[in-house]
Amino acid sequence: MTKLLVTGGAGFIGANFVHYTLQHRPEYAVTVIDKLTYAGNKANLESIMDKIEFVQGDICDKELMDKLVADCDIVVHFAAESHNDNSLREPWPFVETNIVGTYTILEAVRKHGKRLHHISTDEVFGDLELDDPNRFTENTAYNPSSPYSSTKAGSDHLVRAWVRSFGVQATISNCSNNYGPYQHIEKFIPRQITNILSDIKPKLYGTGEQVRDWIHVDDHNEAVHLILDKGVMGETYIIGADNDHVNNKMVIELICELMGKGSDWYEHVNDRPGHDLRYAMDSTKLRQELGWKPRFTDNQTGMRDGLQQTIDWYKEHTDWWQAQKEAVEAAYAKQGQ
Ligand code: NAD
Ligand code: TYD
Repeated sequence: MTKLLVTGGAGFIGANFVHYTLQHRPEYAVTVIDKLTYAGNKANLESIMDKIEFVQGDICDKELMDKLVADCDIVVHFAAESHNDNSLREPWPFVETNIVGTYTILEAVRKHGKRLHHISTDEVFGDLELDDPNRFTENTAYNPSSPYSSTKAGSDHLVRAWVRSFGVQATISNCSNNYGPYQHIEKFIPRQITNILSDIKPKLYGTGEQVRDWIHVDDHNEAVHLILDKGVMGETYIIGADNDHVNNKMVIELICELMGKGSDWYEHVNDRPGHDLRYAMDSTKLRQELGWKPRFTDNQTGMRDGLQQTIDWYKEHTDWWQAQKEAVEAAYAKQGQ
């Protein structure tokens, strides 16, 4: 069996990745390393805990990472501080985990000659104008806007430098905004779903014209598996599901409709400072070279089925999110959001 070390495997995308791997890729044995910050939740892995190894720890811990990396074949690196709004409130944890943590992993994979796949974001490219028809490609220049995206950009640069300078065997993927089960309720889509379930009106920042190229988390994770199977060392792959015609207002209206509310049952709140306008991804390389195709691509918004599945999950898992709801909303309320 090939041993995968999954960093951040108790977070949103990492936990979905671990579930997906156990269901679809029996050739892998999985160890998760996660610090269990506010964003990590052991309950995300509860139903499969007996099928994986779980280590609570920090990716910045050199000795721990050295030991775990020595004992695996491939590292899939999801662990990060991931929320833009938090990075505006308190940037340091972003610098520490996203930059120092990635450095620590790179040194361990270099020492032990192990393969790394580094998970990154489209936000490293900055944003496009709302009327700009272009999409980000693997060759787009980096131009990050926030403490979050700039630390992710820094981590990508470290990976490329370790590939070129030290011959580390690594691949990188930059994906657009994900949605699906187990996403922290501070994020846009689960915040609105849990607002409606709590009889609170959904909150749209500013005009809501901003565009995120939404992708279902399983489509992201299948792409990561294809990169593990067939990706070329040193290469970067853009992952996106062609939803760059869907703006935040349309997403909120669709959530309201799917949850039986009038499509205008939401309110506008303060905009985010420095709010990126538009992300759009050109995933031609991944599709043509590795044969990836997203599954969640239905009808007019490309999100209806995936959103319905996500809404059902939050409805069925109130125990998973309800205890956090008040504190999350109180933190937003302080900012008029
Ligand atoms: P998340 O915040 O839900 O999960 C992050 C996980 O990392 C948590 O379990 C947390 O406990 C863990 N973690 C944080 N600091 C750590 C540390 N120092 N040591 C060990 N574990 C630590 O994030 P997510 O949305 O699942 O994102 C996962 C990765 O995917 C990140 O690298 C993010 O930049 C990237 N990404 C996210 C999106 C998105 O839409 N969410 C899109 C593209 C890329
Ligand atoms: P978010 O989920 O925070 O992801 P990111 O900042 O990585 O794009 O936000 C997605 C979009 O939704 C972003 O344009 C900000 C907007 N947004 C709202 O309109 N209302 C909200 O309550 C939140 C949390 C985000």
